[in-house]
Amino acid sequence: MNTPETTSPETTPHVTTSPVTTSPESTPLERASPEHVRRVACVGAGVIGGGWVAHFLARGYDVTAWDPAPDAGRKLRRLVDAAWPTLTSLGLAEGASTDRLTVTDTLEQAVTDAEFVQESAPEKLDLKRDLLARLDAATPPGVVIASSTSGYPMTDMQTTAADPSRLVVGHPFNPPYLIPLVEVVGGKRTDAAAVAWASRFYEVAGKSVITMDGEVPGFIANRLQEALWREALHMVASGEATVRDIDRSITEGPGLRWAVMGPMLTFALAGGEGGMAHMLDHFGPSLKSPWTRLEAPELDKALYDAVVAGCDEAADGRSLADLVAERDRGVVDVLRATGRLDRQEGSR
Ligand SMILES: NC(=O)c1ccc[n+]([C@@H]2O[C@H](COP(=O)([O-])OP(=O)(O)OC[C@H]3O[C@@H](n4cnc5c(N)ncnc54)[C@H](O)[C@@H]3O)[C@@H](O)[C@H]2O)c1
Repeated sequence: MNTPETTSPETTPHVTTSPVTTSPESTPLERASPEHVRRVACVGAGVIGGGWVAHFLARGYDVTAWDPAPDAGRKLRRLVDAAWPTLTSLGLAEGASTDRLTVTDTLEQAVTDAEFVQESAPEKLDLKRDLLARLDAATPPGVVIASSTSGYPMTDMQTTAADPSRLVVGHPFNPPYLIPLVEVVGGKRTDAAAVAWASRFYEVAGKSVITMDGEVPGFIANRLQEALWREALHMVASGEATVRDIDRSITEGPGLRWAVMGPMLTFALAGGEGGMAHMLDHFGPSLKSPWTRLEAPELDKALYDAVVAGCDEAADGRSLADLVAERDRGVVDVLRATGRLDRQEGSR
């Protein structure tokens, strides 16, 4: 969790303050402002849905949950109970309690009073389409409905809903109660206001949000994970590396830096005093080397300039020395937090 909050969502009486800018397809209505949301519904309560339930409970929301599996309620409570000590150690919102979870018998009961709905059903396009249409029919008009989908564009999922304008993607990372990132993006028939509302709501609920302007299958982080994943599978399939080697190559290598700084600034530091520009000059030709099965983009001037400028912008005024110190401090913290520093010290 990026910044554990100690306050619950606003406890003032429910106020509807945020007029919904509607598309021609939607009904003109009002939805609660993100700061005043009290009641959240989670539909689909497996690994991700259950993780969302734990997160929203820890943030002090009333949560209703529905899942069609016969033993879903028992599994959900087990997941929440297992996460609760960690969430408690990170700091619960005022009034947060596992007693504020209600597992309902029907989907309709779960969403009837909801002020936000998070869908986390299995990753099957037809199922998502039908479920989102059903949720749209049962949820109070205007209320935003978000899908946890790992990669389907909302345009492909909102085809059968009567009001597609309020359907957005809110893609989390497992477990949603610990990993801060949520990627938010709408489909072609989603209102921009619903996307903005969802982004703000997730921020109020303690998440770190990236709002995307346009749809890309897999969004941002999964495309990056997928590139690594595909190459890892190539290496396993061809006997070039073992599964263990691949995992160690990340956890003992770049993964430590990535927990502190993303791949762009990490490589900018690999350029030494010359930063990203030197890095590109030095290793640009490697893009033509067979270091990956993925086809590399042409490193033309536009891409070169965009990457250099992007790194300068991301540095946000921090000097190279500042960034190096920040990276090193962060890596040490990660080593200590994962017990590897103790092992290293013990081995001296
Ligand atoms: N597992 C991950 O790391 C991860 C990360 C981010 C996003 N997601 C996405 O989250 C969603 C859920 O994935 P998961 O890993 O939690 O799967 P899961 O299999 O753990 O859970 C899915 C749950 O949905 C329930 N379900 C089945 N049919 C349903 C229906 N018609 N309506 C409502 N619920 C239904 C199942 O009973 C099950 O409990 C998927 O869209 C997935 O792509 C997964």
